[in-house]
Amino acid sequence: MIIYIIGMPGCGKSKTAKYLQIEKNQYIIDLDKYIEEQLETDIPTIFSKYGEEYFRLLETRALEQISDDFGDVIVSCGGGVVTNSNNFTVMKKGVTVFLDAPIETLKEHLCNSSTQRPLLKVKTIEQIYNERIELYRKFADVTISYNSYIEAADEIMEIINGKLKKKILVINGPNLNMLGLRDPKHYGTLTLDEINNMIKEETAFDFEFYQSNHEGAIVDKLQEYKKYDGIIINPAAYTHTSVAILDALKAVGLPTVEVHLSNINSREEFRKFSYISLYAAKTICGKGFEGYTEALDFFL
Ligand code: DQA
Repeated sequence: MIIYIIGMPGCGKSKTAKYLQIEKNQYIIDLDKYIEEQLETDIPTIFSKYGEEYFRLLETRALEQISDDFGDVIVSCGGGVVTNSNNFTVMKKGVTVFLDAPIETLKEHLCNSSTQRPLLKVKTIEQIYNERIELYRKFADVTISYNSYIEAADEIMEIINGKLKKKILVINGPNLNMLGLRDPKHYGTLTLDEINNMIKEETAFDFEFYQSNHEGAIVDKLQEYKKYDGIIINPAAYTHTSVAILDALKAVGLPTVEVHLSNINSREEFRKFSYISLYAAKTICGKGFEGYTEALDFFL
């Protein structure tokens, strides 16, 4: 398995990689060092002589080479690897792990580091963070909230050993706690627990199930996004009214599938419009409880 570690300068990638190499016997390639060895010069020199654009070309070429030549390797990538969309395609060959560290931690690590970082001469760490955070999230197959390099390394070992599954948050909105009793003509006869148990049969993921009759509570739950890799949501009546849930989904930025048991397009006029569809990657409706299992196919 190829693991690509990505994250901001100072997020702890190199230390985590070193620990994985020494303590966990993993084969590690530091992408920047690999490029430096090939060109027999250092990154700051490449930047100042040829510019960033040229460096990014070298970086993609190196990533391609490593991804083609090695089966089991952990690649510790430079912080800017996510700024080139070609790398996204190359990195689909493995699992991309985003080490997500708060700005304070980044600053602390950078203060204590001797590595030269050309971009930090022209931009602040906050500027770089704001420019890149969405890209890291886009590239990431798994996000690890960085506490220490030992914990991060342990989590990466769990991925390698196949233990760490992606976690999907399944949210059901108002009145869906009454499934089984409520309007079976539209919503079927299964209870919400029965539907959730069927979803759980898919063992490729870990799940958290959440139902609420309150809009704000659903927004709060979505804001716990760091714990999850994807969302399946049936916002029920809030589908047709909730700018707040739409905004929360946008802010959180996780891949999302919207599910409705009934076919909202063939019912009353007011059900035809969905705020949630403005964000969701996919909307499934009118397939009863099977809509939820079809949503899993999207994540698989
Ligand atoms: C629903 C459709 C909504 O219009 C309705 O308000 C619901 C359930 C569905 O699953 O079909 O509560 O989301």
